[in-house]
Amino acid sequence: MSPLTGGVSSDIWKVVYPGRTVCIKQALAKLRTEADWYAPVGRNAAEADWLRWARRTVPGSAPEVLAEDRSAGLLVMEYLAPERYPLWKAELMAGHVDVAFAGRVGDTLGRLHAAAAADPAAPAGFPNAATFHDIRIEPYLLHPIERNRDLHAPLHAIAGDLAGRAQTLIHGDASPKNLLRSPGSAPVLLDAECATAGDPAFDLAFCLNHLLLKGRLFPGRGRALLASAAALREDYLRHVAWEEPAALETRVARLLPGLMLGRVDGRSPVEYLDTALLQSPVRAFAREHLMRPVAALPALFGRWARLLESLDA
Ligand SMILES: Nc1ncnc2c1ncn2[C@@H]1O[C@H](COP(=O)(O)OP(=O)(O)O)[C@@H](O)[C@H]1O
Ligand SMILES: [Mg+2]
Repeated sequence: MSPLTGGVSSDIWKVVYPGRTVCIKQALAKLRTEADWYAPVGRNAAEADWLRWARRTVPGSAPEVLAEDRSAGLLVMEYLAPERYPLWKAELMAGHVDVAFAGRVGDTLGRLHAAAAADPAAPAGFPNAATFHDIRIEPYLLHPIERNRDLHAPLHAIAGDLAGRAQTLIHGDASPKNLLRSPGSAPVLLDAECATAGDPAFDLAFCLNHLLLKGRLFPGRGRALLASAAALREDYLRHVAWEEPAALETRVARLLPGLMLGRVDGRSPVEYLDTALLQSPVRAFAREHLMRPVAALPALFGRWARLLESLDA
């Protein structure tokens, strides 16, 4: 057995048996973050349910669940070796920015959301709004109010809006850290502990946030990262049939700055933006667009591009 690294919310092990290698994941009651952060271990069952649902809905989009012990809060899934299934985050951090792959991520998320929006039984099987509040809304959108008192109103409005929507089934943690690239270059989603009936805007904004933030770390790669964000948006929006795509996009354009702020002033700041110099333009940009949201993502991306160009100069 060897521990797999990267996560803060679970014990996760690679386990080699004769002839078969698996991955065992058990949810922790107290997360490994600097600030105290507790979450119910029943989220492991939600993860198993989501992984199975996703695999049925879009073949190959999640690892196969092999066994489960719900009382222990653990699951066994197939092990996807990094030599064949590299982590998207590892590729991005190494400077390998593949725009087409980002588009496929948007496509996969869009297909999953569309399928769940068309089948009310899918979101109904994930009544996890309380967990979603504890590990997404509070840490990313409400906690930053402590350092940004003047943003109380917009952040509460966003949080309230998210809590009030259950249009589809969302993954809840669609970050490059939880996405593998299959040998055929298809996205494989991991880590569905936050899966809930919710607002599809969340998954889209959450994933785009990581692409934007990496631009702050590597302003020279800003153009490719923004092209990735644009491809992800475009290939996602193609699937939006359950509501007016422009309405969904407006929610994403409002939520995304909130999540950007959440990754510098929230409970779980992103580890690679670890100095005031790296954080301050993110904070300023997020604050500005929380106060004066734009209606669509291309405008937001354009402004972020200009900011990155000024930092790169
Ligand atoms: N089935 C798997 N096969 C191979 N690696 C995996 C698998 N599941 C997780 N990992 C690796 O372990 C890391 C942590 O797993 P994850 O499910 O994301 O846990 P956490 O909730 O702690 O973030 C992932 O980022 C990935 O690198
Ligand atoms: Mg993870």
